[in-house]
Amino acid sequence: MKKIVIANWKMYGDLAMAASLSQAVVREEKLHTAKVSVVLCPPASLLFSVASHIGGSGVKMGGQDCHIQPEGAYTGDISANMLKQAGCQYVIVGHSERRKFHNESSRQVCQKATRAIKTGLIPVICIGETEEERTEGKTKDILAEQIRESIPEEAFSNDFILAYEPVWAIGSGKTPTVDDIREIHTYIESFTAKRTGIDKSRISVLYGGSVKASNAREIMATDGVAGVLVGGASLKEDEFCRIIAAAG
Ligand code: PGA
Repeated sequence: MKKIVIANWKMYGDLAMAASLSQAVVREEKLHTAKVSVVLCPPASLLFSVASHIGGSGVKMGGQDCHIQPEGAYTGDISANMLKQAGCQYVIVGHSERRKFHNESSRQVCQKATRAIKTGLIPVICIGETEEERTEGKTKDILAEQIRESIPEEAFSNDFILAYEPVWAIGSGKTPTVDDIREIHTYIESFTAKRTGIDKSRISVLYGGSVKASNAREIMATDGVAGVLVGGASLKEDEFCRIIAAAG
């Protein structure tokens, strides 16, 4: 199975950065194309620019969020179909920054994932516990609840990706130990398989949270880790190319 490396640019980037980073990623992906699938998720305003640079290469593109509805009077939002028309094949849904700053519930995340699938996009459904939940020993309960409520029935027979992103690891420089990642990913896989009836081999669980060039290889070599979702380190050309190389 190819490893999946997804870049989440968040609300960073401009046209010059989009051009040079996309071109560097295209060059790096070519060297490792048999072993890695790379997806860039720029902000909406840079989608067309990124698409123009990755066109014809193996690098794919995704949105960072989409609306539940196919269209409507929703100022500032973007629809799954708009992402698709811009050239996206993926969309991140339920990122903890959306859950936190936009009060998105797992139920809404589930509706977004449904819309994505109906539009022909592959949803990257994010789950993860907060620091407080972890300290209280609630990690598995929280993940189980998020899996139960965030994965739509449409996903049972269509492609989707899960991303385990412990909220306390995002942008903090802290990561769980490799043993912890293995344990949690194995748990997520089995719980999702039980809950959805999907064969375990079809369930891809990415790890996200302070992934960088120096820890990417070890994390991606861990059992149950299908790839990585990278924030901060995906904005640095050199660093991100080394993460791609670590998968290949
Ligand atoms: P980080 O972010 O790599 O900067 O920790 C990951 C994410 O938020 O997807």
